[in-house]
Amino acid sequence: MDSKEIRQKFLDFYKERSHTIIPSASLIPEKDSSLLFVNSGMFPLVPYLLGEDHPEGKRLADSQKCFRSDDIEEVGDLRHTTFFEMLGNWSLGDYFKEEQLNWVFQLFTEYLELDPERIYVSVYRGNKEIGIDKDDESVAIWKEIFKRKGIQAEAVDFAEKDGMQGGRIFYYPDKENWWSRAGAPENMPVGEPGGPDSEIFYDLGEEHKHHENSPFKNEPCHINCDCGRFIEIGNSVFIQFLKKEEGFEKLPKQNVDFGGGLERLTMISQGKTSIFESDLFLPIIEKIEELSGLKYRENIKSFEVVADHIKAATFIIGDERGISPSNKEQGYFVRRLIRRAIRHGRQLGISKNNWLKEVAEKVVSIYEEVYPEIKENSSFVYQELSKEEETFKKTLERGIKEFEKMKDKKVIDGESASFLYQTYGFPIEIIEEMATESGQEVDKEGFYEETKKHQELSRKLSAGAFKGGLGDHEEETVKLHTATHLLLSALRKVIGDTVFQKGSNITSKRLRFDFSCDRKLTDEELKKVEEIINEAVEKDMIVKKEEMDLNDALKICETASFKEKYPSKVFVYSVVDSEGNIFSREICTGPHISKTSELGKFSIKKQEASSAGVRRIKATLN
Ligand code: SER
Repeated sequence: MDSKEIRQKFLDFYKERSHTIIPSASLIPEKDSSLLFVNSGMFPLVPYLLGEDHPEGKRLADSQKCFRSDDIEEVGDLRHTTFFEMLGNWSLGDYFKEEQLNWVFQLFTEYLELDPERIYVSVYRGNKEIGIDKDDESVAIWKEIFKRKGIQAEAVDFAEKDGMQGGRIFYYPDKENWWSRAGAPENMPVGEPGGPDSEIFYDLGEEHKHHENSPFKNEPCHINCDCGRFIEIGNSVFIQFLKKEEGFEKLPKQNVDFGGGLERLTMISQGKTSIFESDLFLPIIEKIEELSGLKYRENIKSFEVVADHIKAATFIIGDERGISPSNKEQGYFVRRLIRRAIRHGRQLGISKNNWLKEVAEKVVSIYEEVYPEIKENSSFVYQELSKEEETFKKTLERGIKEFEKMKDKKVIDGESASFLYQTYGFPIEIIEEMATESGQEVDKEGFYEETKKHQELSRKLSAGAFKGGLGDHEEETVKLHTATHLLLSALRKVIGDTVFQKGSNITSKRLRFDFSCDRKLTDEELKKVEEIINEAVEKDMIVKKEEMDLNDALKICETASFKEKYPSKVFVYSVVDSEGNIFSREICTGPHISKTSELGKFSIKKQEASSAGVRRIKATLN
């Protein structure tokens, strides 16, 4: 069965049982911003689990795009990925344990044809401290289910200490059998729903047990031991509790949240032992084999990092709320994924230019029918990947040379790590990974302290005139910075050469620009300014950067207004149309975007007086 068939069978199974199939939500959360990415099928449904009525009813099923940054370290073990698809079914105060456990077992064994003899399950051990009992109700249901297949299922406890003990049903504590978006009960914020769960595991066979180098080889094997023999393929969460200041209280309705990783189900169904060999990854793996001339099974870690990270980056950039690589929030995750993939690609000897795009094309071809947004946004995805590849490749080799100079240090101190980050753009996990490979350690805390110091310093620097108050180099801020140059030029065109810059402050949301002018601008003037700028945007002018002596720069930049503060060598940024006409020219330290078409629509939101003879405009791009 290929992945499409499995996904479809799952959804059809629940459709036949009166569930409405709902589309996957965006990977980027909408209203709920307690996490940066949607990490489970449950995420977009939280308001309904808390009691709100869902417009599609009480029974829902879906296949949800998920991203778990926490699992980034696990990639490389044949079964973990950061991006995955969660098949889900939902009871919003409708059916409960009896139906759920029976259905999922029927689906797995009869529709997806998994061998019932290889299925093991876990249930909640209970926790006296929070006053929640062990889940004997699920145990009784499971016993019946197995019995119908002729399997005598014993429930046993403390497998983590005593091993399998001939059991089929296992009790585990909070860490394994309690689910909420924030994890265990003590980590849940007030107002968060969660509950005990029952997981389903598949036995890959004795031969996978405690392999040679397994860190578990001196411990008893059990279904949650992570040695590689058992793999979790589904989780039925009984979302019944709400975290309050005083403890847990029952939710108004008893809900079921089932989630099963499509990648893992596909792997098992296709008789593979690595999800990277299932049809959801194989074309990507084959592409990396072609690019590197190496074999996946001989280079598991690097292949999986490249395949997983580029798939995740493709989905995040190509999302309906697409996010570009940057230095902030979600954008920084995208940057880290891409940069780590580039370094692992280098380890594999891939030297071709623009190779990330070739990998991403495979991702798009695997998913375009199911998630059409990544096809629709594919040119944007390729463009962003190429840009990031080009940027990071420039510093990667030099950074690696610098790192090699540090090889005598047992511990890479904070200052050195911060230097690699600031100067060569190495995210901390790349530095750590390189250190581990050469038997070194990194002073992570020192790194964070140094970085903070550096950020404070650059904030101070950027408060000065040269950076025009640019707080950071995030994409939106950079765009608004370029728009500020267009604004000065447009104001001079409309009002005259008496207009000079008097101040500027830019955030990722808006620009604020102060300029010399002793009267209020009329509505027509403001409109004209907007028009001139939007015309420049539409004409897709290029932003050109040149370094020159201050004296030469002053001759050509009539807008220079901080003359005494400039150093002797400066950068001149010019915005030029396709015929070579100069729209704007300013002495500036940057950064700027490279083409005006990236800016979007410019609009003035407000004008006001700033001080005597100085007016202020606030404007946005969208
Ligand atoms: N919320 C549960 C999980 O993510 C089941 O969907 O595992």
